[in-house]
Amino acid sequence: MLEQFEKIGKDAFKDLKKINDPTALEDFRIKYLGRKGQIIQMLSQIGQLPPDQRRTAGQLANKTKKQVTEAFEKLKESLLEARQEKAKEFIDVTLPGKPVNIGKTHVITQTTNELLEIFGRMGFAVAYGPEVEDEWHNYFALNIGPEHPARDPFDAFYIDENTLLRSHTSPVQIRVMERTKPPIRVVAPGRVYRPDTVDATHMYMFHQLEALVVDDGVSMVDMKTTIDQFIRTFFGPDIKWRLRPSFFPFTEPSAEVDLLWTDKHGKQDWMEVAGCGMVDPNVFDAVGIDKEKYTGWAFGFGIERLAMIKYGITDIRLFFENDLRFLKQF
Ligand code: DAH
Repeated sequence: MLEQFEKIGKDAFKDLKKINDPTALEDFRIKYLGRKGQIIQMLSQIGQLPPDQRRTAGQLANKTKKQVTEAFEKLKESLLEARQEKAKEFIDVTLPGKPVNIGKTHVITQTTNELLEIFGRMGFAVAYGPEVEDEWHNYFALNIGPEHPARDPFDAFYIDENTLLRSHTSPVQIRVMERTKPPIRVVAPGRVYRPDTVDATHMYMFHQLEALVVDDGVSMVDMKTTIDQFIRTFFGPDIKWRLRPSFFPFTEPSAEVDLLWTDKHGKQDWMEVAGCGMVDPNVFDAVGIDKEKYTGWAFGFGIERLAMIKYGITDIRLFFENDLRFLKQF
């Protein structure tokens, strides 16, 4: 009889190992722990044993019952947990979808792309230059001599004696002329850096769009026509702008472009948005282009300024704070 009890216990553990679903678990319960199950039956047989065997048999039967019951409960629990885990994975395809937040290009990137498209249609290629520049490209080749106020080390972020973060995109003109023979017709967008005190219209990093045209017989009229076409395409036909004489070391004559715009109080004023002019012969000398044969014009627009006027943005810092409430409007 004791051997039989032991066998029941062993069989029960063997069966338990095979179970992996609730039906098999219930079958197991009926087979061993149910009212007619083998373990309960086994216990009921103890009374029929001779009195001297009852004690040992009773202990063995109770121990077996306890162990099997415990193992059964444990398995039941882990099966339940597994089922709950599975339920979590279940996808209800009839539920409405969660909204997907798709990012968009930054307003400055959008503006830059728009500018490149407009100039692309006017036959300009796109050129890029490094943001970490040397003094040759940022200053010397652009006819900016050592005494020029822009050469004050406090007016640029220097990395070492000869290397700095470019303070304008004009060095890209030099890089293009060093590697390309005229005719040249390029625009160059990019970041520029200046240690300015930050306020509503100044930032230590901003974007410019540079242009350079070099060819046989290029004149200031070509420059003015191109700027006019561009401004009217970008802002609409009614925009008012003017060329105001100015000075830059790398152009002669030089001018600045002012746009008439309306501030948030409805007040109209001129805002300077670009510098421009005819390429200075000294610049052609620096890059080895024949100044007797070729002429050229160039400009540099401030991209933030263009976007501020177009969209009525009154603080340049908004572009760089990356507040979604601002960015989502574009
Ligand atoms: N590089 C000048 C600046 O950052 C702007 C400029 C003026 C660019 C005249 C030009 C130019 O190409 O011809 O202030």
